[in-house]
Amino acid sequence: MPKLRAHKAPGLQGQIRIPGDKSVSHRSLMLSALAIGETRVSGMLEGEDVLATAAAMRAMGAEVKRQDDGTWCIVGRGVGGLAEPANAIDMGNAGTGVRLLMGLVATHPITCTFTGDASLSRRPMERVMGPLRAFGTTFISRDGRLLPITVTGAANPIPVRSVMTVPSAQVKSAVLLAGLNTPGKTQVVERERTRDHTENMLRHFGADVTTEPQDDGTTLITLIGQPELVACDIQVPADVSSAAFPIVAALIVPGSDVRIEAVGLNPLRAGLIETLRDMGADLTIENAREEGGEPVGDLVVRASKLKGIDVPPERAPSMIDEYPILCVAAAFATGTTRMTGVGELRVKESDRLEAMVQGLSACGVTIRSGDDWMEVDGLDDVPKGCAEIAVDLDHRIAMSFLVLGLATENPVSIDDADAIATSFPGFVDLMEKLGARIEEYET
Ligand code: S3P
Repeated sequence: MPKLRAHKAPGLQGQIRIPGDKSVSHRSLMLSALAIGETRVSGMLEGEDVLATAAAMRAMGAEVKRQDDGTWCIVGRGVGGLAEPANAIDMGNAGTGVRLLMGLVATHPITCTFTGDASLSRRPMERVMGPLRAFGTTFISRDGRLLPITVTGAANPIPVRSVMTVPSAQVKSAVLLAGLNTPGKTQVVERERTRDHTENMLRHFGADVTTEPQDDGTTLITLIGQPELVACDIQVPADVSSAAFPIVAALIVPGSDVRIEAVGLNPLRAGLIETLRDMGADLTIENAREEGGEPVGDLVVRASKLKGIDVPPERAPSMIDEYPILCVAAAFATGTTRMTGVGELRVKESDRLEAMVQGLSACGVTIRSGDDWMEVDGLDDVPKGCAEIAVDLDHRIAMSFLVLGLATENPVSIDDADAIATSFPGFVDLMEKLGARIEEYET
């Protein structure tokens, strides 16, 4: 397994473009596979998770091709037209991929088995299977709740009204995607709003989806079933969750001044930007505009003296993937940063609360955690670093600790370079373009 070591960097400088948004890329493949005609997607993330979804859509009968100029062309089968795959589908590390696909398959009269890597095979799936059973779908799963899972879709699905018990865009999206091949109205009630890429893209393909705030503070999302989805052009914005790594690197490496172009700034995703600004980050958005139905902007980030804050728990869904890298920023802030309402981090690609406690402690940072909270004490001095972090198949843990190593006294290493390709192919090259030194090594 190749390993990587990050060394203390001089000020990071330059202008970069980040790969496409993982959430939007998965959805573009799934919806285009159900559309009539040829959809053209530019800016697709070509990370392993998304490639697994592309392979799955091919296995279910869609034509999915990458052209030499990087555009992806997908010819769909129409809503209800997915074919039964000949073999089990290996979704690798892709939690979004497998949960959304379970939703798609749930209302097709086909049987499909999903497998995944060791990380995906320990992640909770009952949160998706429960709501999908209401459509009439049946599941066989290991231990009653884990992958491998065999889904048999409902031949005559019943429309459902599903009240979300966890703030999860994956569960919401699985229900909405199941609603596509279901007659009548499928409804989702969210207590806390989560990323709305599925709703936005469904509308883009011509489906009737409404989002209505309710008097009790919840949000009601309604999809009218069995629409004809019409192929369209999609431009995938740069992934703000990936941009988070160079953003924090530029903030903590003294003398840095970095520009990151055309980053997706959907308000239900951009909580980290707000949080870093609350911490005193010199972070500005230029050329705010709309591209392919999503707000984007160029981010200009300069090294900043950060201060610790209490991050409001209601902001968690809009930055759920960014807490590991926020912890790294917090290690360089004056005072303590408190993060609450973050229990979901325990069921991501790894237990991210535990991973940050173990890793930051090993690097000389004081961090405390409980069931659904975490506190990081900023240091007056720079952390010592000097540790090798076990990333446990978690791409965001891998990148967070490499960013840490760019500003610690001694290098920080990770034990698995391959994990990064899940969401951010080219991460090391991009960081090196800014002036970072990250070397591969063997032990
Ligand atoms: C995602 C939703 C989030 C997020 C994941 C992508 C999506 O997961 O952590 O990386 O694309 O819908 P949850 O829905 O489990 O919060």
